[in-house]
Amino acid sequence: MRDELEILLYGDAGLRRKSEPVDTFDDPLRELADAMTRAMIRENGIGLAAPQVGVARRMLVAQPGGSHGIKVYTLVNPEFTFLSRERDSFHEGCLSLPDILADVDRPVRLTVRYQDLDGNEQELEDDGLLARIIQHEADHLEGILFVDHISMLRRKLLAKKLRALSKLARGN
Ligand code: NI
Repeated sequence: MRDELEILLYGDAGLRRKSEPVDTFDDPLRELADAMTRAMIRENGIGLAAPQVGVARRMLVAQPGGSHGIKVYTLVNPEFTFLSRERDSFHEGCLSLPDILADVDRPVRLTVRYQDLDGNEQELEDDGLLARIIQHEADHLEGILFVDHISMLRRKLLAKKLRALSKLARGN
């Protein structure tokens, strides 16, 4: 059994690595998904990707809440098969960048193919918060953070906060 997972902070090299596909669907994978779900809920997050807990594997959890209830979605090896040309902007945050929020522009609708924890192929479509979370978390699997999507000007305004976080990450 895994203990409580720690979430890597901005500045940690683990957040910039490209994650490897999951090819073994076993108990350790399920335990990791459970531990990630607990960490997400503990931190009041609505999504978490494996690299954020130091595991460079292509898996994410999402808990959009609201009308979706408290269902937790676990997506292994997600691949987008459709991203709408229609985009919108939404205020995003990230458990790896506490206290930082920024408007990020992304496609509104998507279809994503993925595997469940038993390795079965699944597909889901969404045009709401879940679609937003999945895109944010899938970025983590490529080593991309939401602040990479914002304008230089906006990033300059956040520079001080980002530097402070990097210092914290290095201190760990
Ligand atoms: Ni994030």
